[in-house]
Amino acid sequence: MVNERIPVILDGDPGHDDAIAWTIAHASGKFDILAVCAAAGNQTVEKTTYNALRVCALIGLNVPVASGCPKPLMTELKIAPSVHGESGLDGPPLPEPVFEPVEGRSVELMAKVIRECDRPVTIVSTGPMTNTAALLLAYPELKSRIARISMMGGGLRNGNWTPAAEFNILVDPEAAKIVFESGVPITMAGLDVTEKALILPEDFERIRAQGTPVSKVVAEWLDFFYTYHKSLGYDGAPMHDPCAVMALIHPEVFTMKDVYVRIETCGDYCRGATIPDWNGRWGHTPNVTALVDVDRRAFCDRLVELIGRYREVLA
Ligand code: BDR
Ligand code: CA
Repeated sequence: MVNERIPVILDGDPGHDDAIAWTIAHASGKFDILAVCAAAGNQTVEKTTYNALRVCALIGLNVPVASGCPKPLMTELKIAPSVHGESGLDGPPLPEPVFEPVEGRSVELMAKVIRECDRPVTIVSTGPMTNTAALLLAYPELKSRIARISMMGGGLRNGNWTPAAEFNILVDPEAAKIVFESGVPITMAGLDVTEKALILPEDFERIRAQGTPVSKVVAEWLDFFYTYHKSLGYDGAPMHDPCAVMALIHPEVFTMKDVYVRIETCGDYCRGATIPDWNGRWGHTPNVTALVDVDRRAFCDRLVELIGRYREVLA
């Protein structure tokens, strides 16, 4: 029988929205999750690795987990405790890890699983792209074995950490540049769409009402994540990272357009910006399939439904 599941590596910096992205990925049954890699970003890599292991324990995901690069390629790490708390995943208590991370860094684990997989592997990148860039630098021969990178980062119109730059790209613009110039197909979930993929408090209650251990934690992650966004005037919690997963599970809820995107690594004001060339002025063929719009209601319904599957997944 043909295996129609998509082989994936989950590479992120959990982080509330990373954790929810991984939770729906596992529930969907759409993927063979080959590895989980922790990136430095929302918190230090020690904390995101611990969080990755705790999320795996919560959702019953038993795959190799590796710790990633401790800092960006060229600069010092920026973290986001204002959004995700001191632990990187503040809010509800979580189960302790049920296994240890593998020896070695994520770059080696990624290379191993890509080499051993009988099909090209998709990388779901929901943090700064340091680990994926390191993989491309260290093992260029594996590039042709990467089917796609489905990533959350950037914005085609604006940033969130500076007026020009989104957090994941701003933390490691050099890594993003390496990835965007690699020739590997990219699906980009940028702020233009992820800020529209807003889950509202009434949806939190639908999740809470499912009454499973996972749904209870997800609802409390949403409570925590929303507190920060509410203080900025949002009506709900933007599901940034789940968009990078949902684009693979339910692409029909998005509108997508192909475009050539460059990463700004210099500039007085625009370091970390993702610049789309809508008019073909740079003369390049598109390197990105960008999510440009989302049916918010359909997105939220699918997200709630996927979390509801934990009744069966963990039964
Ligand atoms: C991105 O930054 C992080 O705080 C989130 O996890 C998401 O990946 C949004 O800009
Ligand atoms: Ca993230």
